[in-house]
Amino acid sequence: MAKFLSRALTAVLVFSYGLFTLVLYGLIAVKNGTYFKRPTEKEELELQLARDRLWNLSEDFEGLSHHMLTLQSGFKFHFVANDKPNTPETINSDRPLVIFIHGFPDSWAIWRHILKSPSLRQAASLVAIDLPGYGGSESLDKYDATNVLEKLTELIITLRTEYGVDSSEESNKKRTIIVAHDWGCVLSMRLAAEAPALAHRFILSNGPIAKLVQANIRRILSTTKKMLGNAWRSPRHARVPLMQALRTLAPLGRQFFLSGYIFAMQMPVPFVLQFLTGGNYSLLKGVHLRASGGILTPYEAAEGMASSMGPSVAEFKSKTASGDTYPATLENERAFAHVMHMAGYYRDHASVARWVKSIETVASLHSISSGSELRHSSSGAGLFDEGPTGALKASSTIFWGQQDIALDQRICLDGMNDFLVNDSQIVLLPRTGHWTPVEPESRAALIKVVEWAAQGEQGDVGTVIQKSYPGAKVTVRR
Ligand SMILES: *[C@@H]1O[C@H](CO)[C@@H](O)[C@H](O)[C@H]1NC(C)=O
Ligand SMILES: *[C@@H]1O[C@H](CO)[C@@H](O)[C@H](O)[C@H]1NC(C)=O
Ligand SMILES: *[C@@H]1O[C@H](CO)[C@@H](O)[C@H](O)[C@H]1NC(C)=O
Repeated sequence: MAKFLSRALTAVLVFSYGLFTLVLYGLIAVKNGTYFKRPTEKEELELQLARDRLWNLSEDFEGLSHHMLTLQSGFKFHFVANDKPNTPETINSDRPLVIFIHGFPDSWAIWRHILKSPSLRQAASLVAIDLPGYGGSESLDKYDATNVLEKLTELIITLRTEYGVDSSEESNKKRTIIVAHDWGCVLSMRLAAEAPALAHRFILSNGPIAKLVQANIRRILSTTKKMLGNAWRSPRHARVPLMQALRTLAPLGRQFFLSGYIFAMQMPVPFVLQFLTGGNYSLLKGVHLRASGGILTPYEAAEGMASSMGPSVAEFKSKTASGDTYPATLENERAFAHVMHMAGYYRDHASVARWVKSIETVASLHSISSGSELRHSSSGAGLFDEGPTGALKASSTIFWGQQDIALDQRICLDGMNDFLVNDSQIVLLPRTGHWTPVEPESRAALIKVVEWAAQGEQGDVGTVIQKSYPGAKVTVRR
C-alpha cells in the first residue's frame, strides 16, 4: 500500500511539474509572439528548400553524399559522409573514421557547419548518422537502453568494417573516433563505459553521465540532510547550517528548474504532442533560435527546423546514388507524430535502464577489441580497477559549454575525474552554451579537437584548443 501511494504521489508530482512546464513554455511563446505567428510565404518556401537541401537523397550536401545502411537485423540507418562506404579507396585509405552522433531535437544536420571544414574532410572519413527515430533513420517501438544501444553498436561495428577499420583478418587497422552531443553524448558515454572497444577516442559534448548525476544528487541530498539535522539539533544556531543547506541545494534546484521539459516529456501523448508541436513548433523554433545566440536569418531558421523535422513527403521519393530510399515505414508516421520518437528517449529511460547485450553484440565487441586490451586496462580512480558504475573506459575528451541552459555544470561535471581513464581531458568553454556544434566559436574549436584526434593526437590538445578558443580551460587526466 505504501509503495502504491508513493508511486501514485510521484506520478502526480511528475505530471504536475510537466504540466506547469508545458503551460509556462506556452505562455513564454505567446508573450514572445511566436505561438500564434503564422509563417510567411517566404518562410514556408525557405523551409521547403532547406528540407530539399538536407534530405534529398539524390543530391549531395556540400560534397557530402547520402547513404542508407541496412543492419543484419534489418534496421535501416541514414547517414551522410564525405567518403563512400565499402569502396576499395575508402577501405584502403589510412584516414581514420569519425562518427558524429547528434542529440535532441536534431539530426545529422546539426554537424553541417563542422562537416564543411576542408581540413577535416582531408584528415578523415566523416560519417554523420541519424539516431533511430530521428531524421531519415527507421523508428523503434521502444527507446529503452537495450533497443537503442544494440542498434547503435551494430551500426558502429558495421561502419567500422565498411570504412576499413576492421576486416576479417585484422582489427583496428585505423583509428575510430566518436563525436557526440546532447543525447548522442549520453548514449556515447554509455558506449564508452559498456563497449569501449568501439572507438579509440570519444569526444563528448554537453550531455550527462546518468550515473554521475545520480551520485551527485545523492551526495547533495545527504549533505543537506546533515546540515538540516545540525540546524534541528541546535535551533538557536540554526542560521549558519540553514544557509549552508540552501547553498548546497542551489545547483540541484537550478537543475530541477532547467529539467522541466524532461518532466513534460513524461506526460500522456496528447500533452507531449502539444508541448513539442504546439504553436506550430514554437518550442523547437525557440531551441534553434537560442542555439544561434538569438539571431537567425530565415535561411538558417529554416535549416534548423529542417534538421529537426527530417525529410518531408517530397523527399521520400528521392533515391541515393545506389538506389536506396528512406525506410518505407517512415513516410506515414513522420508527418505528424515523429516528435514522439524524439520524446521516446526520455520516456523509455535510454540513459539509465540496463543494457542487456545480445550474444551477437558481445561476440562482435570481443572480436574488435583484439590488440586494444592495453588501451582499456587502466581505469579511473575508485576502489576497484573498474572505477565507479558508469565510468568511461575509453579515452575521452569532455567538451563542455559552460553557459549551458539545460545542464548545470556542478551536477554534471563534479566528480567527473573519477569517471575518466588515462588519456582523457575535460575542456571547459566559458563563452559557449549547450549547442557546441552550432555556436561559431565552439564549433571552430571542435573542428580542431577532431583534427587532433584524427591526426593521431600529436602534441598537447590544450594548446590546440586554446589557440582557437582563448580562455578555454583544459584539465588532463593521465
Ligand atoms: C505551420 O507551419 C507550416 C510550415 O511553415 C505551415 O505550412 C502551416 O500553415 C502552419 N500552420 C499554422 C496553423 O500556422
Ligand atoms: C531531388 O533532387 C533531384 C536531383 O536534383 C531532383 O530531380 C528532385 O526533384 C529532387 N526532389 C525533390 C523532392 O525536390
Ligand atoms: C597511462 O598511460 C601511460 C601510457 O599511455 C602509462 O605510461 C601510464 O602508466 C598510464 N597511467 C595509468 C594510471 O594507468
